Amino acid sequence: MKTEAAKGAPPGSVGSPVLAVRDLVKTYRSRRRGLVNAVDGVSFEVAPGEVLGLLGPNGAGKTTTIKCMCTLISPDSGSILVKGVDAIANPRKAVSHMAAVLEGNRNIYWRLTVKENLQFFSAVHGIPPKRNASQIESLIQAFRLEEVRNSDARTLSRGMQQKLAVACAFVKGTPLLMLDEPTLGLDVETSFELRAMLKQMVAESGQTILLSSHDMDVVQELCKRVIIINNGRIVTDDKVSNLLELFKARAYRLTLSGPVPPALARELESTFESIQVTSDSHHSAIDVELLDGGRFYDLVDLLRKFDAEIDSIDRADPDLGEVFLRIVRGEAR
Ligand SMILES: Nc1ncnc2c1ncn2[C@@H]1O[C@H](COP(=O)(O)OP(=O)(O)O)[C@@H](O)[C@H]1O
Ligand SMILES: [Mg+2]
Repeated sequence: MKTEAAKGAPPGSVGSPVLAVRDLVKTYRSRRRGLVNAVDGVSFEVAPGEVLGLLGPNGAGKTTTIKCMCTLISPDSGSILVKGVDAIANPRKAVSHMAAVLEGNRNIYWRLTVKENLQFFSAVHGIPPKRNASQIESLIQAFRLEEVRNSDARTLSRGMQQKLAVACAFVKGTPLLMLDEPTLGLDVETSFELRAMLKQMVAESGQTILLSSHDMDVVQELCKRVIIINNGRIVTDDKVSNLLELFKARAYRLTLSGPVPPALARELESTFESIQVTSDSHHSAIDVELLDGGRFYDLVDLLRKFDAEIDSIDRADPDLGEVFLRIVRGEAR
């Protein structure tokens, strides 16, 4: 289903950014902790049709960043442009270009049915529900809400309410959509289901989406580009594929026929920092990470010195979770 936002802005097209954030700073004054630098100089841009992941551990500043974009809180300094509109000077106009689902806040009307909620949010954004009827129907189907379409929102399960909240954000058809931890607090099955629905919606809607999560699987599945944020600062802004590649080149698994003699095992362990040797009487495996490509040849030379027979060499595929931990711990870049 193509929304208004999608027309003229196919995914991946270049154009002026839908969202441009510069030097955003937000400090909270907390009685218990004093000054908390929740967002500490964040800058980024999101291009039309892009689905950008904002990934970071709890307390990293994701929700605060998104609340600033939504004009729910004012930053101490910095600028936010939404479709070129200054969101600080002109919040009403900026907000008309966006829809958001905030963490833990299922912003739907308890007493309205599923369908009425969708009609309401469509109307609020100036699209008469009649004109939007087929889109409302597609959303009900995409989010598997057919059986509860005429049930009051308050009677739905938590997972269903979350799906409805997300559907209500999509129905507005705004150029920019922000989803803060859309799968947080859902059981594993519902979280999986919502992820699959989001994947479909993201591919079809063509909207520009900023999605925050502390769950790397969600980001890896839905986003091509990711910003990793920690302690209110951006530590990485790159394509997910680049981040995975960065580590891919470094993790190897070598299998050898026969066990690794103790003298070789000792030498391997003293020469290479992160190496793991496992052997049984027929085979052995060496898992190693090589931060410098040249070290690979040192490893092969050492194995030759002991006449070890290499059966296979594989590069291990890291997942975004590993990459994320390393970046947050400051091991990368
Ligand atoms: N209203 C508030 N008052 C004081 N501190 C806050 C408030 N909201 C968030 N914080 C603090 O700001 C930091 C960033 O929080 P938040 O933006 O919610 O992070 P995230 O969404 O990444 O988990 C955390 O240290 C959090 O405790
Ligand atoms: Mg949060």
